[in-house]
Amino acid sequence: MTMAHAPGKVILFGEHAVVYSQPAIAVPVREVQAQVLLEAGLPDQGTLVAVPDLERRFLLREADQDDPLARIVRLALRAVRQKRDPDLTLTITSSIPIARGMGSGAAVSTAIVRALAKHFDFWLPSRAVSELVYQTEVLYHGTPSGIDNTVVAFEKPVFFVKEEGWEFFWVDKPFLLAIADSGIESSTKEVVGDLRRRYEADADRYQPLFYRAGEIARMARSAIERGDQPALGRLMDENHELLREMGVSCPELDRMVLAAREGGALGAKLSGAGWGGNMIALVTEETRGRVNIMLRLAGATRVIFSRVR
Ligand code: PMV
Repeated sequence: MTMAHAPGKVILFGEHAVVYSQPAIAVPVREVQAQVLLEAGLPDQGTLVAVPDLERRFLLREADQDDPLARIVRLALRAVRQKRDPDLTLTITSSIPIARGMGSGAAVSTAIVRALAKHFDFWLPSRAVSELVYQTEVLYHGTPSGIDNTVVAFEKPVFFVKEEGWEFFWVDKPFLLAIADSGIESSTKEVVGDLRRRYEADADRYQPLFYRAGEIARMARSAIERGDQPALGRLMDENHELLREMGVSCPELDRMVLAAREGGALGAKLSGAGWGGNMIALVTEETRGRVNIMLRLAGATRVIFSRVR
């Protein structure tokens, strides 16, 4: 029996702008996890994939080519030099909410790759894991920037620029995030596609927003590196305004962002694709209780606290 895990993630700064080659910052969220349990199967069974929470069970040899779970299992088996369809049962569970911008797809894929590598005693560096996971992100998201697979596979805060790569950076003072779920499912592919159409119709309107979001991500990195949380909070507020102007927020997220600030958060913004999903707020030990109450009163269906270090 083999077990492997992978964390969720949130985007701190630069979502959407990252698709247009501006820098973005994402951090792992270890309070939620995807988990894969790998057990020996029956002789000639082949690989069986079970997702009990979704009431899904399928044999790899019968799965569609473009099924994301089947794709990552096939890619991972090839990466660990398994030519045959081995007699294994993979059971996938996850506490990461689906379609809420917390990287659930990337985390499940990462946990699958890690479990198979561990089982076959094959060392895969995080970079290789990330590259494999990117290939399934394409099925979930269409044209992903690559930020999700990077932060989840490396499990470190990343400063990411599409097609250029990523850098890890120094977190001078650990900081506390409240991550609140709007309860609304959102499709990253849809929101990204909609913004793409609006951008193509009026690039002059959106280009400055993307550019400013990129500047904010750079300033945010420097605020994190010097441990300046008030500055970080202000940058979150400004980034949220830009996301509103990009047309990716929604009344429920705006309400939660305002509520968090009223509760004493140093800053707050939507996180991820928008039109639902999660928002994040920068809090302290002193303000977390009040922010939690304010977020719940504003409609949050779940609030997680995560320390970034
Ligand atoms: O998957 P989400 O909701 O975290 O959103 C991804 C972030 C985007 O910048 C909107 C898209 C991308 O591919 O980076």
